[in-house]
Amino acid sequence: MNTNMHDDVESVLLTAEQISEITSKLGAVITEDYKNSKNLVLLCILKGSVVFYADLMRKIGVSCALEFMRVSSYKGAETTHQITVLLDTEKKDIAGKDIIIVEDIIDSGNTLSHLKNYIASKGAHSVKTCTLLDKPSRREVNLVPDYVGIEIPDEFVIGYGLDYNESYRNLPYIGILKREVYEK
Ligand code: IMP
Ligand code: MG
Repeated sequence: MNTNMHDDVESVLLTAEQISEITSKLGAVITEDYKNSKNLVLLCILKGSVVFYADLMRKIGVSCALEFMRVSSYKGAETTHQITVLLDTEKKDIAGKDIIIVEDIIDSGNTLSHLKNYIASKGAHSVKTCTLLDKPSRREVNLVPDYVGIEIPDEFVIGYGLDYNESYRNLPYIGILKREVYEK
């Protein structure tokens, strides 16, 4: 890793301005869809979506509560993937509420697919999913997110919350990571 994070970026996929436009559009659609909801809860999936989440919530014109979960996904010995909940929400904050799960990126779809079922099992009134980035070509399960910022090609991306080994989350744009950083 270079001491200057920017030197590890192959190319910029989305500038801060482009991300802001995408986030504004998503916020407008969500505002319209939830204008009659009195129980909207934005559920942030830590850590990757924290930057997107902070921007998105301020583009939503409907009053909402904020909740946080932290999960890790791993590939078990079998082909089925599982998620481990590292930080959970309380059932009372989910039951009867209109939940939007906010993710940074969907790859295989395993994380979000498990989370949707998990949140539904806590008695949510409704559960929808919102992701800034989607890599549909990588999908392993049948998961179609309700709100998608933008579909991207199968590249490893960093910045705006997304990491490689916990680095690069504080880049203000989304970039493609140089292969030499993770292939050596
Ligand atoms: P899924 O369960 O395969 O959909 O994995 C989603 C998670 O994998 C995301 O929340 C990210 O943490 C991580 N991930 C997938 N693709 C990328 C990427 O290109 N850059 C950084 N993290 C990624
Ligand atoms: Mg993540």
